[in-house]
Amino acid sequence: EKGGYDYFMLKEIVEQPRAVADTLLGRVTTDGALHLDEMRLTPEQLRTVEKIVIIACGTSYHAGLIAKYAIEHWCRVPCEVEVASEFRYRDPILDQQTLVIAISQSGESMDTLMAVRYAREQRAQVLAICNVNGSTIPREADGVLYTHAGPEVGVAATKTFLTQLAACYLIGLYLAQVRGLKYGDEINTLIGQLATMPEQVEQVLDTVDPVRKLAHSLADQSTVLFLGRHVGYPVALEGALKLKELAYMHAEAFAAGELKHGPIALIEEGLPVVVVVPSPEGRSVLHDKIVSNIQEVRARGARTIVIAEKGDEAVRPYSDVLIEIPAVPTLLQPIVSTIPMQVFACELALAKGNDVDQPRNLAKSVTVE
Ligand code: M6R
Repeated sequence: EKGGYDYFMLKEIVEQPRAVADTLLGRVTTDGALHLDEMRLTPEQLRTVEKIVIIACGTSYHAGLIAKYAIEHWCRVPCEVEVASEFRYRDPILDQQTLVIAISQSGESMDTLMAVRYAREQRAQVLAICNVNGSTIPREADGVLYTHAGPEVGVAATKTFLTQLAACYLIGLYLAQVRGLKYGDEINTLIGQLATMPEQVEQVLDTVDPVRKLAHSLADQSTVLFLGRHVGYPVALEGALKLKELAYMHAEAFAAGELKHGPIALIEEGLPVVVVVPSPEGRSVLHDKIVSNIQEVRARGARTIVIAEKGDEAVRPYSDVLIEIPAVPTLLQPIVSTIPMQVFACELALAKGNDVDQPRNLAKSVTVE
């Protein structure tokens, strides 16, 4: 049932184009319309929303962080993201105009479930993004959008993360539509671009081989750092989490702009630093800034592993290893930029002889608080 692969994780990584297509299936049609009626939240309810709060754990939390960038930009609704285990212990401000989005692959994470119960007690509307049909969180939520990624056996979330992102984008674009369009044309174009993401994912998988070799060459390292800006920052967090859980290595992610506020002191000769570079198009200031961040760490001896859009020549001179990904709109980039991170962590763990499906000390779904 591993489909010819030694590990479920390897199979689940290559299943990603199909998984993302399944999340979009029937929800994005060729005429550019979105069909999310199954969410059980009516357009009227969605129009009353004044604030969005996303709660989740681990990888699902990273999906939430990315969703915030998209939702605030497209919908102009304030959006907070919080680790579910912290949420109900700090007296959060919720009411009927708050939409809480709970993201959970399993639908059984106790931290997220308790946060959902708390939010409902405060009379917020709760929408779940889940993969496992009929699991507890969607049963207790007001509405649900299933990701339809299919079963994920490997403990590390891979295809379920990409499909959570697709689901978040669907919700963000739908909200923008029902609430009246500040960026009407942009939204319609993005719906079309979202529909092409399965092909882009396929393309990344076709070109990711050099990452395998790179990972094997780094098996003896004790630390890897990850840097990103904008949506690249949560992708960097996700890359670091994958490396911790699979390769048992010290891995840490920073918002690249924070480097100079402390972490740059960590940089020493030969330290691998993975950098996620935003698309150069339309956001040149952001792009210029990350190019200088790459220069800064390299000047201090870091070995730079740069994930950047194909054709982004500005980063080439400062990249010890350049991993190219297809050009997609910046907000959608995490769907493609995450994949090299997954492959990197998986291969590095395999190079160390670890069981990538069952990393030590971890369970697929965490049903204790
Ligand atoms: O099932 P959930 O999405 O609620 O699980 C949340 C986390 O436990 C999960 O994403 C975990 O961080 C992954 N194993 C990371 O790969």
